[in-house]
Amino acid sequence: MTTAPTVPDAQLAGASQDRSASGGVVELHSVGKSFGEAGRERVVLRDVDARIEPGEIVAVIGASGSGKSTLLRVLGGLSDPTTGRVTIDGTPVQPYDPRSAVAFQEARLLPWRSLATNIALGLPRRARGVEGRERVARLLELVGLSEFAEHRPREISGGMAQRVSLARALARRPDVLLLDEPFGALDALTRLRMHDLLLDIHTANPCTVVFVTHDVDEALILADRIFVVGTEAAASTADGAGRSADDRDIAGAREGATLLRIDELAEPRPRSRSSKEFLRLRHELLAALGVHLHAEAGEPAGGSTEDATTPAR
Ligand SMILES: Nc1ncnc2c1ncn2[C@@H]1O[C@H](COP(=O)(O)OP(=O)(O)OP(=O)(O)O)[C@@H](O)[C@H]1O
Ligand SMILES: [Mg+2]
Repeated sequence: MTTAPTVPDAQLAGASQDRSASGGVVELHSVGKSFGEAGRERVVLRDVDARIEPGEIVAVIGASGSGKSTLLRVLGGLSDPTTGRVTIDGTPVQPYDPRSAVAFQEARLLPWRSLATNIALGLPRRARGVEGRERVARLLELVGLSEFAEHRPREISGGMAQRVSLARALARRPDVLLLDEPFGALDALTRLRMHDLLLDIHTANPCTVVFVTHDVDEALILADRIFVVGTEAAASTADGAGRSADDRDIAGAREGATLLRIDELAEPRPRSRSSKEFLRLRHELLAALGVHLHAEAGEPAGGSTEDATTPAR
């Protein structure tokens, strides 16, 4: 097991010294995404409207296959929306938009390259050379991997690889950091340390963060707002309505997932996992995802275990 470090403030300031402080408003206007040939397309996302403020941390949760990664790819300009548009600071997102950076669930490192070179791959073109090398060195320090700079990905653990992936995303000093289940493959302790690392990085370098997670507790601990993605049909059955597929057809549920609810978390971080508000929201969000705890039978809705808070895939 590896440990994610506590990051000294000065080091963080060094890592973020020349980025703009106020960029990163993300707006989604009637965003939809379909796959497949015209006439036989499958609608995955529809009518997604949202505005994410600079420096905000948004968690996206939803059932497996509901379209979370698709949404993130559209936000990052890795995939064009079929309808609607996405803007950052008022201008449309470009393919591989330099204002944003994406880190995926798998670290996706080049196995034959050193960790330092893998991080350098995230640098913008203009920052190669001495400046780039200095930035990579600072990022390695930031994620606690300076002494592993020349190691290859096969020589490090999964948690370390995730930290490299995060450093590579930060290398371009994005206004918008997009993370797809960044801690999904990590053990519980490494994951908690990564939460602290992410919050430390964000405090020193407050870019807009959108992260996808299956873990409701993770969303409640880290996010300013939580977006729940899903289909209306799935939501009505998850709420316990228990309608059959036929009933849903009759009701005319629309194809494709959208934002079913947005929850704002007013409590400042770090947050207590046992506060009334935390437990209430946790219960509601799990129910929205179709996970029903046994509160009705007199058991508390809290009691954090990974199994209880992570909906089955
Ligand atoms: N390139 C593609 N071509 C066709 N269908 C796709 C493509 N990408 C995604 N899909 C479909 O879109 C739906 C949503 O996929 P997506 O990966 O966004 O789900 P997800 O919410 O991220 O799921 P998970 O939680 O399992 O990662 C799935 O049914 C998937 O099969
Ligand atoms: Mg996904």
